[in-house]
Amino acid sequence: MSLPSHIYIQESASKTLADLLLKGNYSRVAVLTDENTNQHCLPEIRKILPETTVFIQIQSGEENKNIASCTHIWKELTDAGFDRKGLLINLGGGVITDMGGFCAATYKRGIRFINIPTTLLSQVDASVGGKLGIDFMGFKNHIGLFQDADAVLIDPRFLSTLPFRELRSGYAEVLKHALIADLAHWRTLPKEGWQDLNWREIIKHSVEIKHSITTADPTEKGLRKVLNFGHTIGHAIESFFLEQAENKLLHGEAIAIGMICESYLAQQKSGLTAESLKEICHYIASVWPTEPINQDIFPAIMDLALQDKKNEQGVINCTLLAKTGEAVINIPISRQDIRESLEWYNKKGWQ
Ligand SMILES: NC(=O)c1ccc[n+]([C@@H]2O[C@H](COP(=O)([O-])OP(=O)(O)OC[C@H]3O[C@@H](n4cnc5c(N)ncnc54)[C@H](O)[C@@H]3O)[C@@H](O)[C@H]2O)c1
Ligand SMILES: [Zn+2]
Repeated sequence: MSLPSHIYIQESASKTLADLLLKGNYSRVAVLTDENTNQHCLPEIRKILPETTVFIQIQSGEENKNIASCTHIWKELTDAGFDRKGLLINLGGGVITDMGGFCAATYKRGIRFINIPTTLLSQVDASVGGKLGIDFMGFKNHIGLFQDADAVLIDPRFLSTLPFRELRSGYAEVLKHALIADLAHWRTLPKEGWQDLNWREIIKHSVEIKHSITTADPTEKGLRKVLNFGHTIGHAIESFFLEQAENKLLHGEAIAIGMICESYLAQQKSGLTAESLKEICHYIASVWPTEPINQDIFPAIMDLALQDKKNEQGVINCTLLAKTGEAVINIPISRQDIRESLEWYNKKGWQ
């Protein structure tokens, strides 16, 4: 596996960006941040930005990945007189790269954009693969399109200011990439001390996996669905807790639970061995919290799983594992299967 030339993984985002700005022949440059990346990440690139750069800031958080924030971004670009040769630099986590990309791809029918992802989740997942969008009427990523960034600059140094829970959340996607596509990579993930990994190496490998899958199937006709492992049940759990004022789960924390439940279903339906199931779940439980989920909310989780936009004609299609390092797509699962897997999760069946 290798990386395409527009994805740069190196500890020098500002130097690479300076080169790209020179070569790009852009009429104007704008940078999109939230208050956290404005404080922690913008100083790294600010020094090389042109004097006429437009700085656009939105409030952090998934709840702001909405049309109101887009209106603000489009208005700032319009007020600054941005033409179609302008460039938008998205400096932040997945909220910024998804929404900034969406705003760029639609402003005057499309201006170019560069992603500088600053969370582990956005470095290994959200900033690669061309999916752009915003949430709408309570539905995640409901409005959006596919379009690639001009360049993706991944600088692992940005992770040094990331809160621990956010780093751990992103690590769920690293684990997922190994489980669906790379047994050898899974074998190299440390059983203890994952926080001390060589992030540059880990990110490179993870991005290679995501990139090879998304280029083979850019608009999710088939193969790309392997990336949904852990996400059918995980997303439903995430959505449920999103509406709770307390107990909010981060994306990766919900996906970790989803990967446990879906590994259980993989043993039932797609040939994952009992030994592999145990090994995977042990590992997940050693990294993420595995708090029990109240049985009373199982029906709500099952309802949410059924609503997932990846289902067709009322059937819940799930991506499971055939074995560690190999995923299978389109395995139908029932509400009862989800209930059983949640019960198994609550009982910590892997112990
Ligand atoms: N397009 C895709 O293929 C894809 C894939 C996965 C996830 N996503 C999307 O990504 C989003 C989640 O991304 P995320 O987890 O990066 O969330 P996020 O963008 O909300 O960032 C998490 C938090 O970290 C802060 N932050 C970012 N970088 C920082 C840094 N270097 N130092 C300190 N704080 C920093 C942010 O301000 C925010 O508070 C979701 O909206 C999800 O839908 C998209
Ligand atoms: Zn995910």
